[in-house]
Amino acid sequence: MGGLRGSVLADHRSGFWKLERQQTFKEPGDAGWQAFADGRWEDSLRILDGRRPEFEGYYRRIADNGFATRRVQQLPGDVRGFVNRVEELRALNRLLTDGHRSADVTLSVITGTAGVGKTSLALRWAHSVRNRFPDGQLYANLRGYDPGPPAQPEQILDRFLRALGVPPAAVPADLDDRAALYRSRLAGRRVLVVLDNAATARQVRPLLPGTDRCLVVVTSRNMLSRLATRDGGRRLTLRMLSEQDAVTLLRDITSAYRSGDDPDELTELARLCARLPLALRFAAERAASRPFMPLGQLIQDLRDESALWDRSPRRRTRSPTQYARSSPGPTGP
Ligand SMILES: Nc1ncnc2c1ncn2[C@@H]1O[C@H](COP(=O)(O)OP(=O)(O)OP(=O)(O)O)[C@@H](O)[C@H]1O
Ligand SMILES: [Mg+2]
Repeated sequence: MGGLRGSVLADHRSGFWKLERQQTFKEPGDAGWQAFADGRWEDSLRILDGRRPEFEGYYRRIADNGFATRRVQQLPGDVRGFVNRVEELRALNRLLTDGHRSADVTLSVITGTAGVGKTSLALRWAHSVRNRFPDGQLYANLRGYDPGPPAQPEQILDRFLRALGVPPAAVPADLDDRAALYRSRLAGRRVLVVLDNAATARQVRPLLPGTDRCLVVVTSRNMLSRLATRDGGRRLTLRMLSEQDAVTLLRDITSAYRSGDDPDELTELARLCARLPLALRFAAERAASRPFMPLGQLIQDLRDESALWDRSPRRRTRSPTQYARSSPGPTGP
């Protein structure tokens, strides 16, 4: 087995020490244990292979792959109080069935304006289908729209490779080499990859697996047209909620804190938020935190604030209701 790299053995050495502490395979006089105790790691792996059920094929797997395989589970928590999006969830479900027929439909790009619910939809769907991906899920926030610099694909690949069991010292320095190792780690495995808040196709492309057994969901405020056309992605554009769903969202969040709100005023509030989920959440949380304030008063306050933002010459960000009024829809590449 002379081909195994030192870093790989180091990784397994630490794993074996853990097993040893748990008394999993320590049997005095055992040749495998003796080799391990003597620091003859490769010999110990070879001897232990097949000796016990938990080591069945262990040595061979390491020799074949270079690294042990792990199930990854990186999805952040599911969204609480998620409203509707039934059609969109169905469209995403179709990817699962279509993906088997045509190798090129393994990428979905969810686009839409800021705060419309792209991340929430991607996470809701990913949670609902995660059992279909026995090798787990990878998740990365590409921070395409944060005030700081966006995440670089090199950084994300480094994290993904470690999560896939590659020891840190074995992660290549070069972007292309990292991407190649990532693709070979995913070959033959069924992993769901969620690439959230991407700004450009350049950020995403090195993170695409080379196999159609994996499925990728990207969210972006941009259209990422080249990703859709060149890399065979299917685009799903998310619109504002319907008025009824917008009111449901408001009610779901506020009902535990206040009762008796006038349905017409709730509708008015939903319209003021232009039925944008981000603005609706903001307004609903404010209403929930002021249980004795009449809804009419809250609506007036939000209008006044919005007008103030409009007049402020030094404003650098927008208030959520302003977002709602000026949201342009997805843009550019
Ligand atoms: N269908 C929904 N039901 C309930 N709440 C939702 C729904 N969609 C979005 N939200 C809420 O709206 C807010 C904004 O949603 P989200 O972060 O998913 O938007 P986004 O489109 O990803 O925004 P960005 O462009 O900034 O990344 C979150 O607080 C989220 O919980
Ligand atoms: Mg998002």
